[in-house]
Formats: sequence, structure tokens, C-alpha cells
Amino acid sequence: MVTATMTTFKNNIGGTLKDSSSTEYFEKYNPADKNDCLGKFPKSTDKDLDEAVAEAKKAFEIWKNTPAPKRAEVLYKAAEITIAEKESLAQILTRETGKSLVEARGEIQEVIDTYMFFAGEGRRIYGMTGQSELANKSIITIRQPIGICGLIPAWNFPAAVPSWKAAPALITGNVCIIKPSKDAPVSAYKLVEILYRAGLPKGCASVLFGSGEFGDKIVRHPDIKVISITGSTEVGSKVYEICGKMLKKCALELGGKNAIVALEDANQDLLLEGVLWASFGTAGQRCTSCSRLIIQKSSWSDAFVEKLANAAKKLTVGNGLNEKNQVGPVITESQRKNIHGFVERAIKEGGKVVCGGNVLSGGDYDKGTFYAPTVVSGIKPNMELATQEVFGPVLAVIEVKDFEEAIKVANNTEYGLSLSIYTKDVNLAMQASNRLESGIVYINAPTIGAECGGASAFGGWKHTGNGSREGGVLALDTYTQYKTIYIDYSNKLQRAQID
Ligand code: UN1
Repeated sequence: MVTATMTTFKNNIGGTLKDSSSTEYFEKYNPADKNDCLGKFPKSTDKDLDEAVAEAKKAFEIWKNTPAPKRAEVLYKAAEITIAEKESLAQILTRETGKSLVEARGEIQEVIDTYMFFAGEGRRIYGMTGQSELANKSIITIRQPIGICGLIPAWNFPAAVPSWKAAPALITGNVCIIKPSKDAPVSAYKLVEILYRAGLPKGCASVLFGSGEFGDKIVRHPDIKVISITGSTEVGSKVYEICGKMLKKCALELGGKNAIVALEDANQDLLLEGVLWASFGTAGQRCTSCSRLIIQKSSWSDAFVEKLANAAKKLTVGNGLNEKNQVGPVITESQRKNIHGFVERAIKEGGKVVCGGNVLSGGDYDKGTFYAPTVVSGIKPNMELATQEVFGPVLAVIEVKDFEEAIKVANNTEYGLSLSIYTKDVNLAMQASNRLESGIVYINAPTIGAECGGASAFGGWKHTGNGSREGGVLALDTYTQYKTIYIDYSNKLQRAQID
């Protein structure tokens, strides 16, 4: 439904807005309101990409030789602008993802935190020094940039995740080409516009719109030396294969099947709030969303599930632009069908829907793709709903007899992003943190809400990724290559291993 007023976006090629050479476009609507159109976007072509790459190549020569504390000034300034424009950026984010305004503001805050953190890295970017086996000789290892980075974020965090990728790439002297998801293309575009307003030199960042097919072109482009992608495990595995063949550095942030383990001594009020927030916040569409409650059978466990269902029913679902709404829509109709399919199959396998389990319809619901917050109990550890990622507001309740079984069930998936345990027993909490197979573990806190910081690292084990990390200092590993420099000031030939 193209309207006369629909904004047509251009690609941002190294700081200049340019028409794509393509004649094909896609449109993006608010998933909460099919009448709210964010715009029309080109399906970029090889030619567009080559142009961005040519600009990036030139810019890299300048940017890599700019001192990192100077590069940091751009990120500090971008943080300042983002702070000043937080509200309008949050509104766009809500319109493109459907998430509530409170959450959208939180996501923009995550962008600010990320810029601030990596700007600080501009005065560190630590390497190593070591001891030589020879006299009058020093050894240092430094980090150097790699070149053009292809950044492919997912739609669910279309501002924070591009910043997780672009900030460490840029601070270390790389240049980047971003392809936002076609399901949420605007925020990354706005972010790059702000980076240029903050003083980023021409060519250092480009935003090109397109679908997965265009993402594939980025991955295969021989001059793009690093790929960082957030997406499904299926796509990630294909990208890894291509990068493997091309010997290209690749960072993968993929699926999750996160769980909260509730032991019988857990603080029930805290648990209730945590499960609600992690399972139904963002309509369950975070990589870190809780989709399993692994609850120890106890005198209160059945009553707790009832209480949880009653609280879930009370959540206000609707357009995120309305401040009263806590849960927004799911991203697309096809994703909603997918989610509902999981629930239907869970019922067939013996699961019991305690609340939700249905598409929301009637009134304003018909304008968007809403799905009721859903709790399904009676799920056994090997059922589909206990092991496969749903990416929607659906929580599987799995009952276990004791701590040992809880750990076993929590680890019983191919994924390993975020696991949590609620208990007052410090010994069990620490044993769990040791034995849970995931990149992130929470104790007495829900599975979502990772922070960007010096001691933080965002990423998963098993099929959630390939070991790379974001949101902290370890992200520098993706965007730098090491160089070891030997400095011999003895003024004679010193033979290592011989003299
Ligand atoms: C994601 O879903 O890809 O930890 C990112 C969290 C957020 C980021 C989620 N800070 O839930």
C-alpha cells in the first residue's frame, strides 16, 4: 500500500545519500499498526555495494592513521547527540519494532552506553608486553584494524546491536558497511547519520538497505574482511561456511533457548517479576528472552504457575507508542504463525496452555500482529517447546525434582546464551554459575538486560555463536588483528633460541 506521502529512503554511501541503482523497493510498516508506514527502502545491488566499498577503502587509509583518542571524540560526540535526541530515536524504534516506549528508550540508552564505553577504549585498546629471552630486546603485541567490516544486525535490537558492532569497529580504526534488517531498517540509518554529524570522516560508515540476499553479497565481497552478524543459527551457520572458505573473520551472535531455574527456596515475588519481564518484555523477542521456566516441584510450585498466568493475563498488550502498553506485537504475520505453530504442537505433545495460546484479534489488535502472552505447562525436557527457539511471548514450564535435574534440563538444548537461577542458597547459586552451559549466567535476576562495560561480554556457547563477544572489551577481538613487534637495541645480531 504505497501512499503519496511515503518517505523513500536512500542509501547512505559513506556519508552521502544516494539513490540505489536498483528499481526494486520494500516497504516497512509498524507491526502494531499497518497504517503506520516508516518508508520505502531500496533493495540494494552489487553496484551500490561496490560504491560503498570504494569509499570505505579510501576512508580506511585516513581513519586507521587517526589516533584512537581522536577517533573516540566522534563516539563521545555521537553519544551526546544521541542523548539529546533520545526521545525521537525511541519513537522510531518503537514504530519499527513494536516494542514499548519504555524499552525503546532503554535500547537507545544502550547505544549511548556503548558509545561511551568504546570511546573510553580509545585511550586503552590494550595489547601486551612481555619479556625477551635475549638482553636488550623488547617484545610488544599491539592490536591493529583489519579493514572494511560488514555489519549485519537483526531487527529486534535495530539500534543497540548496530552500535555494538560499529563502535568497536570504528574505535579500533576500521570502517564499516551496515545492512540493517529489512524488518527494522530505520534506526541504524539514523545512527549513522548521527555519527557523521558527530564528525565521522566521509566514507567510514555506509548504510545499505536490502534483504537477506543482499546480506549474502556483503558476506561474499572479497574486500570486506570482517563479518559480524546477529541472526538465526541457520543463517549464522551458512555465513560461517562462506567466511570459512574465504578465510574471513566472522563473529556470530545467534539463537537462544534461555531459561530461568527456580529452586524451592527462591524468593517468589522476585521470581514472578523476573519471569514476567524476561518472558514477555519485548514480546519475548530478545535473543536473551526467557522461554523456559525450570521449576523445582515444591509446596508452592503449582500455585506459582497459576499466579504467573494471572499476572501474564493482566499485561497490557498493544501499540508501543501508547505509554500504558507493556507488551507490543510480534514482528510479522509469518512470525506470528510460526509462534502459534509452536504452541499448537506443544499441545499435541501434551502441554497445557495455562494462559494465552492465541492470536489477539478485534479492535486495534486487527491493525497489527499481536499474540497473547502465553504460558504452557507440563512440558517435558525433550519436547520441541523445551529445546527450540520460539522468539515470541511463549513460556514453557518444565517441572524438575531437584537441583541436579534442573541443571541437566537447563543445559539440554543446542543453544547457550543466557541462563538464570533463583535461589537463596549461595552454594547452589555458585555451583550453578559454574555448571550452566551459557555465555551469560544471572543469579537472582532474569535472563535479559546485559550491560555494556569493562567486565561484560555478550555472546553464547554452543550453537549460539562461534565464541565472539560484544558489548565489552572482548569485542575488540573481532575487529583487530594482533601484531608482535620485536625491538632489538643490543646493536648486534642476537639469535633467538641459539645465543
Ligand atoms: C538481543 O536480543 O540480540 O541483554 C540483544 C539484553 C539486551 C540486549 C539483547 N541488553 O537483553
